[in-house]
Amino acid sequence: MSDYVLDHQQPGERHRLALMSQLLDPMHRRLLDRLGVAPGARTLEVGCGNGSVSAWLAGRVGPTGRAVAVDLDLSLTADVCGVEFRQADILAGPVAPGGFDVVTCRAVLHHVGDVRAAVANLVASARPGGAVLVIEPDFLPVTVAEPAAVRDFWHGWLAWSREEGIDYFLGRRLPQLLSAAGVLDIAATAETALYNGGSPWAAYWQQTIRQLRGRLADAGKLHTESIDGFLDRCADPRWWTQTIAFTAAGGRAPGGPGDDPRSEGRG
Ligand SMILES: C[S@@+](CC[C@H](N)C(=O)[O-])C[C@H]1O[C@@H](n2cnc3c(N)ncnc32)[C@H](O)[C@@H]1O
Repeated sequence: MSDYVLDHQQPGERHRLALMSQLLDPMHRRLLDRLGVAPGARTLEVGCGNGSVSAWLAGRVGPTGRAVAVDLDLSLTADVCGVEFRQADILAGPVAPGGFDVVTCRAVLHHVGDVRAAVANLVASARPGGAVLVIEPDFLPVTVAEPAAVRDFWHGWLAWSREEGIDYFLGRRLPQLLSAAGVLDIAATAETALYNGGSPWAAYWQQTIRQLRGRLADAGKLHTESIDGFLDRCADPRWWTQTIAFTAAGGRAPGGPGDDPRSEGRG
């Protein structure tokens, strides 16, 4: 069974996931819209969190379609009409192999131990020629954050995350991972929000840091002053910064009509 660092039983996790939905659903929905999710389509979201994207997908596919949402822990999902929630670990295998027209996940793969296996299982869940869309963070912007005190905070955060097995630079590797899993016609792009203290992004970081504060302190990678200094900035509307390049990569699962079988699995 996979382990997940921000488990759903932590106080505040419902609020943190709601902030993620508020901040990231617009990008996710826009990219899914470009795929043309149609009435009657069968969709799969892996690592659905609170299920907000699958709720939206269920509305798109309508009563003749199927919106399946999978997570290790479904305790924070709302009971949404039209969404078929399933408790599962993507590392355990594909979900209904070949059964989905659209397969997507967001902010999940950087937490899994074997990302190649997870991507292979996502791709194998799509029908031949089906769409695969993954969105993951790349923390490149924090490596040049200003002032130096903020950069130091992020260096401590990244040192802690490496020990936890979290890959905050996964975004840049998504195209190669999809290619290695046989995905065709891959395209990728990244979006970075600039935000100020008091904004929803600042609230997201305040919440995340509060939840992890004990673990961060115990790991010895961040001093209390550094954490408090960052939290103070998150409350100051005059302070602007950036954190994550959210990287979206997608393409078509192999085996669709007209695909050359020799082109699959390269990369
Ligand atoms: C950071 S949250 C993101 C939630 C949601 N996708 C979003 O972007 O708002 C990561 C989610 O992935 C789930 N998760 C982590 N590892 C998983 C795995 N191996 N299989 C399925 N779900 C997993 C967690 O339980 C959690 O709900």
